[in-house]
Amino acid sequence: MTGREPDGDIVLIDVVHAFRQQAQSLRVLDGLSLTIGDGEFVSLVGPSGCGKTTVLDLMNGLVPLQRGTLLIGGRPPAAGRPDTARMFARDALLPWRTAYANIDFAIATRERDAARRDGIIRALLADVGLSGFEHAYPGQLSQGMRQRVALARTFSLESKHIFLDEPFGALDAQTKLVLQDQLLRLWERVRSTVVLVSHDLAEAVALSDRVIVMSARPGRIIADMRIDLPRPRSATRLQAMREFHELYAQLWSELERAVGPPS
Ligand SMILES: Nc1ncnc2c1ncn2[C@@H]1O[C@H](COP(=O)(O)OP(=O)(O)O)[C@@H](O)[C@H]1O
Ligand SMILES: [Mg+2]
Repeated sequence: MTGREPDGDIVLIDVVHAFRQQAQSLRVLDGLSLTIGDGEFVSLVGPSGCGKTTVLDLMNGLVPLQRGTLLIGGRPPAAGRPDTARMFARDALLPWRTAYANIDFAIATRERDAARRDGIIRALLADVGLSGFEHAYPGQLSQGMRQRVALARTFSLESKHIFLDEPFGALDAQTKLVLQDQLLRLWERVRSTVVLVSHDLAEAVALSDRVIVMSARPGRIIADMRIDLPRPRSATRLQAMREFHELYAQLWSELERAVGPPS
């Protein structure tokens, strides 16, 4: 550390990334610079293959940084940091553990007191509308219910930095709104810094303080849109608000610049 790092909870300066594919080098990120404030909810949108998941993998220390600067809470990323949590499009629950036991497993190291853990787990499952399903196994739950367990588990860690990669990508429109509202409620309580990757522009607008639009590969940032909708929000209620639809339309035109006009 030089003591000259810029302010911001998550800082990227000129991050460049290339993957080796056969004998070729595929440039995926082309000088990404971005500062995310403490407790900000930021979404990353852009055409498929533009490097969104790679950005999260770099932030999580799952893919080593090749060039540029990347700081999470003032430190370089590392896999398995207890102050970071990640959620994927497919729930990745442990199939041999119940909903309850999946969360219990996640927080056992953070909270040693079993009675207190019990309180936390039951409250979280209630938050995502799963009271009464504590003892169901993932295989007995719908995809939407499994994602709710995964959401509860992600927030159970009370991590300072939360990374969500298309967490509702596999859900139908109605279920998605319900889960978005549950995510908003969980987040409004802890106010962690969130980076959400989404290809659903309505979702990005409904949830975020800022939406970052990336260009097609090699990914660059081509727009950084502030979403000044009041909080607390409800994704469901926003659907009827004119301001929401205006921001959505504006975001669409930014994204159209990223992918080019429809052919
Ligand atoms: N481990 C890897 N090895 C080689 N190429 C990869 C690897 N991971 C991703 N890529 C390539 O990098 C590009 C960006 O991938 P990704 O970050 O997953 O994009 P997005 O999440 O925006 O759809 C894609 O062309 C993908 O094929
Ligand atoms: Mg992806």
